[in-house]
Amino acid sequence: MIEVKDLQFSYNKNEFIKEINFKVEKGMIFGFLGPSGAGKSTLQKILTGLITNYKGHAIVNGVECKHHTNAFYENIGVDFEFPTLYEKLTARENLKFFASLYTHQTRSIDQLLESVGLQNDADKKVSDYSKGMKSRLNFIKALINDPDILFLDEPTSGLDPTNSRMMKDLILLEKNKGKTIILTTHNMEDATELCDQVAFIINGQICAIDSPQNLILSHGAKQVTYTYEDNGFKTANCLLQQISDDERLHQLMQQNKILSIHSSEPTLNDIFIELTGRTLL
Ligand SMILES: Nc1ncnc2c1ncn2[C@@H]1O[C@H](COP(=O)(O)OP(=O)(O)O)[C@@H](O)[C@H]1O
Ligand SMILES: [Mg+2]
Repeated sequence: MIEVKDLQFSYNKNEFIKEINFKVEKGMIFGFLGPSGAGKSTLQKILTGLITNYKGHAIVNGVECKHHTNAFYENIGVDFEFPTLYEKLTARENLKFFASLYTHQTRSIDQLLESVGLQNDADKKVSDYSKGMKSRLNFIKALINDPDILFLDEPTSGLDPTNSRMMKDLILLEKNKGKTIILTTHNMEDATELCDQVAFIINGQICAIDSPQNLILSHGAKQVTYTYEDNGFKTANCLLQQISDDERLHQLMQQNKILSIHSSEPTLNDIFIELTGRTLL
């Protein structure tokens, strides 16, 4: 569905996007994961035809993005990082307007509003909407043309846990319908839960691409954390693979001083730090 080859781009004299290569198969959720300023939104702008002066190839649905025509937009949906809605119009009026831009049959506005719990607020002006309501409306706006490829830029950013959960369930629902989804995020928990593959992006470069599970299994070692009594509560760590070499742990066990012990896998965030030396924030 998407193929990017030797992609390069700069906003000014300095090269920013450097030699990016990846492929996204149909039906996959592919994540761009990286800290703020890494180049995630820039990449998305290239793939949605908003930036055209790039070098190399960015092919979406068989079209080289810089040579797109209006037909290109019939089959993609974009949920921008910041809501792009007409504040003085109601939700229904917004959706009607955006639906009118497409030449083919669009999705039912009532069904879309209902799918995100906005059926009773459909005739309220968007200026009276909360942030969570705007995010949900912005999301269904991206679905109005029933696109095969969805670009979602930070769809859960700034949402409370309930709205964030609803958004993730909606994303999974679209995946189950066979849509291909590009998800941009700096939230590693969302990426771990939703993405089939993630690309770690930093300073305009991809430094790893794999499934979250493979990244965690191939890079991280399981850690054991234990607390014990030694003139107060103390905590220590060791690697699970080296547990038999931990003299202190053995001694504490013999002395019956261990209070708790648990093992944990590294998170995608730990792997990101290991590979890039940077955190995701
Ligand atoms: N229109 C622009 N002109 C010049 N620099 C830009 C422009 N848009 C973004 N940038 C710069 O490009 C870098 C990457 O931005 P962006 O792609 O938005 O990152 P991300 O989405 O990963 O947070 C940032 O340093 C940002 O300041
Ligand atoms: Mg961004």
